[in-house]
Amino acid sequence: MSISEHSNNNVVCGVEAVSTPSIMVIFGGSGDLTRRKLIPALYKLKRNGLLPAGFSILTIGRRTMSVEEYRGSLLESMESMGIDAGYWEIFSKDVFYHSLDYGDLDDYRGLNDRLEGMGKDHDDYNYIFYLATPPSAFGVITENLGKCGLSDEENGWRRIVIEKPFGSDLESARELDNRIKIYFREDQIFRIDHYLGKETVQDILMFRFANTIFEPVWNRQYIDYIQITAAETLGIGRRAGYYDRIGVLRDMFQNHILQLLALTAMEAPAHFDPECVHDEKVKVFKSIKPIPLERLEDFLVLGQYREGVIDGRDVPGYLDEPGVPEWSRTPTFAAMKVFIENWRWQGVPFYLRSGKRMEKRLTQIAVRFKKVPYMMFRDVLGEEIGTNMIVLRIQPDEGIGLKFQIRLPGSKICTRSVMMDFSYSDFYEGTPFEAYERVLLDVMLGDHLLFIREDGVDAAWALLTPVLKAVETEAGTGRLSLEGYSAGSWGPPLADRLVQEGGDEWVVV
Ligand code: BG6
Repeated sequence: MSISEHSNNNVVCGVEAVSTPSIMVIFGGSGDLTRRKLIPALYKLKRNGLLPAGFSILTIGRRTMSVEEYRGSLLESMESMGIDAGYWEIFSKDVFYHSLDYGDLDDYRGLNDRLEGMGKDHDDYNYIFYLATPPSAFGVITENLGKCGLSDEENGWRRIVIEKPFGSDLESARELDNRIKIYFREDQIFRIDHYLGKETVQDILMFRFANTIFEPVWNRQYIDYIQITAAETLGIGRRAGYYDRIGVLRDMFQNHILQLLALTAMEAPAHFDPECVHDEKVKVFKSIKPIPLERLEDFLVLGQYREGVIDGRDVPGYLDEPGVPEWSRTPTFAAMKVFIENWRWQGVPFYLRSGKRMEKRLTQIAVRFKKVPYMMFRDVLGEEIGTNMIVLRIQPDEGIGLKFQIRLPGSKICTRSVMMDFSYSDFYEGTPFEAYERVLLDVMLGDHLLFIREDGVDAAWALLTPVLKAVETEAGTGRLSLEGYSAGSWGPPLADRLVQEGGDEWVVV
């Protein structure tokens, strides 16, 4: 392992580079994820000299095609991303294609032979198996790899990367885990949540625990509530086959939103290492008060987008998207209120929301502080005065804002709320890592910090499974309605009611 130095305004950051030769075997080679995220991320890592010598990519798909055909099809998707044609030639020489039937054990023997052939000039060769397939294939691929000895670590390490969703509820997640664990140990398994690879998400712990001034007020004594929003303007595109079975609670809440919640609410880990960080996150999940199913409507609002206008363009409603059944009741929006029952957070509501086809692409964590305890300006200003707020802007416009009150210059006594703002773009030179670059690099380095440990998946599903069961049996009966919302809005108006009970509104900064 070597360290290459990147210097930035007197800041020296170490970026670890991998040094042992490896093959990344990507199942789902023709899929959207491979084309849009994985190959571009690997291309950029290689361009920046962060892949080891002897690194190659073997993509796996069901279709038979030549490697030239496959590389040509990749190039088509990559061209729209503005790649350097000359460098693509160099990069694509190490990209290969192998066709295989996921369920056919004999095919995996063929894969084993191929991998041995690729690594024959080295004593040790590492394999990373990346499962970028539909979730239904995770179990069978893992088993077949294991049965062919491809999880054995006799001559190099073997790691397996599992995309989300990891199961579709608590039971199926445990079942999947048991199947994987027959052949792979926990330290060989990397359960991905790409949000954890985003630069600003990684910064949450630094912000909280590398500064003295925020942590003393980061608790129920000073904080009124916390809101976490992950809003997208995109619809489901061509992913109906996946999305319609999954919906927003499994697609965004079980993983991304709960991870943001855990990083915001957890205690300081004893050490900045994967085990200690995972321990603290799991404690947060276990402390979340189960949502009372008999009063679900007070804690959860679900919605589905209707037609509307996004960026001046008419867009269809969810039910008119290609591949979505016209009777679908899959939610594309959810707003949820949860409480964490521990000394730090008792009584502080956490409002969570995520939706597709919303007015703006925006992921942020807004921490709203309580009013001042005594209003000494009440005679001139009345009882009301703005409150402090910290907003962690995860994307786009990555940064951190602190809202506070000032006296307006010139006036005798007149206040105004202002935002003190830090933007990553003003500070960093160069291009930051994309989330997938970071997580792929970490798989190669064997660093589990940005991945989800088994008990983390379990605890998140334990929280959501009863809610999903209630919603999926109740949907349509009127107890928890599925609210329509116009594409290009901030979701169903009913979602505002959740936060208005606390006397406020959703924060958009
Ligand atoms: C994925 C979800 O995990 O995250 C998608 O499956 C969603 O539905 C995406 O669009 C959002 O990721 P990002 O990085 O674009 O915010």
